[in-house]
Amino acid sequence: MSGPGGLGALGLLPLLLGLPGLPQARPRYEPTWGSLDARPLPAWFDEAKFGVFIHWGLFSVPSFGSEWFWWYWQKEKREPYVKFMNTNYPPGFSYEDFGSLFTAEFFDPNQWADILKASGAKYVVLTSKHHEGFTLWGSKYSWNWNAVDVGPKRDLVAELATSVRNRTDLHFGLYHSLFEWFNPLFLEDATNAFNTSKFPTSKSLPELYEIVTKYQPEIIWSDGDGNAPDTYWNSTGFLAWLYNDSPVRDTVVTNDRWGAGSICAHGGFYTCSDRYNPGHLLPHKWENCMTIDRSSWGYRRDAQLRDYLPIEDLVKQLAETVSCGGNLLMNIGPTHDGRIAVVFEERLRQVGSWLKVNGEAIYGTKPWRAQNDTVTPGVWYTFSPKEGKVSAIFLNWPVSGILELGEPRAKLGETQVTLAGYGELLKWVALGEKGMVIALPQLTPQQMPCQWGWTLQLTDVH
Ligand SMILES: *[C@@H]1O[C@H](CO)[C@@H](O)[C@H](O)[C@H]1NC(C)=O
Ligand SMILES: *[C@@H]1O[C@H](CO)[C@@H](O)[C@H](O)[C@H]1NC(C)=O
Ligand SMILES: *[C@@H]1O[C@H](CO)[C@@H](O)[C@H](O)[C@H]1NC(C)=O
Ligand SMILES: *[C@@H]1O[C@H](CO)[C@@H](O)[C@H](O)[C@H]1NC(C)=O
Repeated sequence: MSGPGGLGALGLLPLLLGLPGLPQARPRYEPTWGSLDARPLPAWFDEAKFGVFIHWGLFSVPSFGSEWFWWYWQKEKREPYVKFMNTNYPPGFSYEDFGSLFTAEFFDPNQWADILKASGAKYVVLTSKHHEGFTLWGSKYSWNWNAVDVGPKRDLVAELATSVRNRTDLHFGLYHSLFEWFNPLFLEDATNAFNTSKFPTSKSLPELYEIVTKYQPEIIWSDGDGNAPDTYWNSTGFLAWLYNDSPVRDTVVTNDRWGAGSICAHGGFYTCSDRYNPGHLLPHKWENCMTIDRSSWGYRRDAQLRDYLPIEDLVKQLAETVSCGGNLLMNIGPTHDGRIAVVFEERLRQVGSWLKVNGEAIYGTKPWRAQNDTVTPGVWYTFSPKEGKVSAIFLNWPVSGILELGEPRAKLGETQVTLAGYGELLKWVALGEKGMVIALPQLTPQQMPCQWGWTLQLTDVH
């Protein structure tokens, strides 16, 4: 080291950098986006890659059309919803009356935890409260509009948190809707063009502090800004507390839905839009939140088998998302009586079985320099920094048994190619700058290590 200060400055260096072995002073975040956005995302989230989203609430009682049931029925007065109510419920039946029908008698949180674990997911996000305002925990701020006072008479958030923590290594996260469609305080603030903030100060913020201190979620998945700015919600004030002083300040991650204009711009990871899957690498950590039921987040009794994405599509979503630097948050909607419908259970277990074979291509990976192949469609790359391996997830098994990859540059005598779940090294030919050609083993369907997408692991490719 030379220059002004010289040895004197060198002597101070250990103090400036923090003494080795001693904990570094944690940074304090200011309630501004500039400060909050600079917080590094806790590493576990990027490593996890795959989570399960659970939309459960009073909308699971009619379980018709969509979790937006109340809004479509009473605000938009959509014909199918109005007709459904007129046909099946007595006159004067209100949405509130669904409360006592939300029974959850089959809800076995241990069984849910076991299914979540079998899916290979590393985190779960439960709707603690959707736009209807009904809380799945016994909130002090909910009057009696919650699952402890009405319906199941159980703290569903506490029960799932306990089982997930007791039986699995999944991170436990909570979804929370800022606004509530029909809450009179919110509607009053909206009428005042959000110059008053009765609703956030008496409802949504107290709830957020309550769920964090009670359940210590490691994800706060915020949603439903109601077209109000983040200043109305005091989102930066809450996040500064969350990152500085809350019990989860070291591990918690948040998304980007904290007020009009914050989506895809502020907060933790970006969700941008529902079912966001850009197909190219993004410079910021992002998440693709999507649904197994193509058209609803809540359970629908009126769904047909064709409405559920087949496992091939789910594996494709996972491969595309992870290759492009995203996490996949795959949604299921349990029933009012507390079941995970077997179609959802099957899909989750299928993803889990695929990840058992191909997990090395997913967990803990980083995007590679190329995301998908330039010659063969349906090939998605990831990179494992520890082993220095490139994984090529290919979604179609070629009829010829020969897979041409335009991206990886192989080196004779160095590069090795294996198929995940299959022992032997594969033969290949290098095409120089044009990539390589790989001979896949000839396997019967029974001999295949998996069915819906396969992984080639390549060492020493560039
Ligand atoms: C945690 O799991 C163990 C073993 O499965 C069980 O015996 C125990 O009762 C569980 N504890 C809670 C709080 O559920
Ligand atoms: C709300 O405040 C803005 C400026 O802060 C003002 O222009 C607007 O008139 C106010 N609206 C109401 C309904 O008070
Ligand atoms: C916003 O939140 C912060 C942190 O909790 C708090 O200090 C501040 O008073 C809040 N501001 C408003 C306007 O509620
Ligand atoms: C790579 O992925 C992008 C985005 O999905 C797509 O537009 C492009 O066609 C793909 N390339 C090939 C060769 O399939």
